[in-house]
Amino acid sequence: MEFAGSHILSVDQFERGDVERIFSVADQLEPYARRRRRTRVLEGAILGAMFFEPSTRTRVSFGSAFNLLGGEVRETTGFEQSAIAKGESLYDTARVLSGYSDVIAMRHPTAGSVAEFAAASRVPVINGGDGSNEHPSQALLDLYTIGRELAGRDRSIDQLRIAMVGDLRYGRTVHSLCKLLCLFDRVQVVLVSPGELRMPEGIVDELRAAGHEVLESDALEASIAHVDIVYSTRIQEERFQSQAEADLYRGRFRLNQSIYTRHCEPNTVIMHPLPRDSRDSARELDDDLNDNPNLAIFRQTDNGLTVRMALFALILDVVDQVEKHATAVTWYVGGRTP
Ligand code: CP
Repeated sequence: MEFAGSHILSVDQFERGDVERIFSVADQLEPYARRRRRTRVLEGAILGAMFFEPSTRTRVSFGSAFNLLGGEVRETTGFEQSAIAKGESLYDTARVLSGYSDVIAMRHPTAGSVAEFAAASRVPVINGGDGSNEHPSQALLDLYTIGRELAGRDRSIDQLRIAMVGDLRYGRTVHSLCKLLCLFDRVQVVLVSPGELRMPEGIVDELRAAGHEVLESDALEASIAHVDIVYSTRIQEERFQSQAEADLYRGRFRLNQSIYTRHCEPNTVIMHPLPRDSRDSARELDDDLNDNPNLAIFRQTDNGLTVRMALFALILDVVDQVEKHATAVTWYVGGRTP
């Protein structure tokens, strides 16, 4: 695909070469993300960050990624801080905000709304999560992490064995990740969820059409026994009709160190898009895994910065100019080892 000036709305728009290009640029930008170098390549550019749902990682890492490339960030968080609360349409909001920004990152609770906004925008728009539909930048950072985690283990994304666990119906990160995996070869996917929260049939069909082996299960322990990656997800309680309905599923699948030791192959990588739900009633990924070196969740969040920097550099067409605008970092940067 031609990245310059493009919206990033769905992983459907990528071919394998596009994903590999993003990862290659992310590798190139890693010294900048890790504060070993600095660059002002986007000095003067403005990111409009519009987050109409709660977010820590996506909102702050998009903003930090833009800052690390030298650009500035204008944030709108929550409908109540926006004129949408006064009845303004997404069309008008997009026309206005795209006059103030060079690129926009947006999260919205309604599936398809970011694409609707992008259709009216005069600048590129990146989908930071639209309802239970998609979260393309998360899937990219997840796949980038998977590739890096497996690189030292003589495994690769082709022939990957992965178990996705939890709320596969409403979890947009697993929807996007499954679609990206369709670009790779001979993947084994075990989908572990309560029957009511199964992966949408269309996505299972896409995995099978790509030649992948798909197993669906509602039993955690047997499903994580022979995989490279366990990708756990939270019950997306904000998507349920009621709290009581979400409570039916919360805590159904809990991975802790004891279960990991008894059932997983040595060195199975543990991932989660975060936030994990650390309340006693949930704990889908227990805190007692925090010292497990195979817990990759904070390497995922670090990689999110790098991958989002790569998206900005590609969309705004400055990849080849980064080094020209680079200087040394002169402040204390210790403690950054993931
Ligand atoms: N993974 C993710 O989307 O996290 P936030 O909701 O904190 O952005």
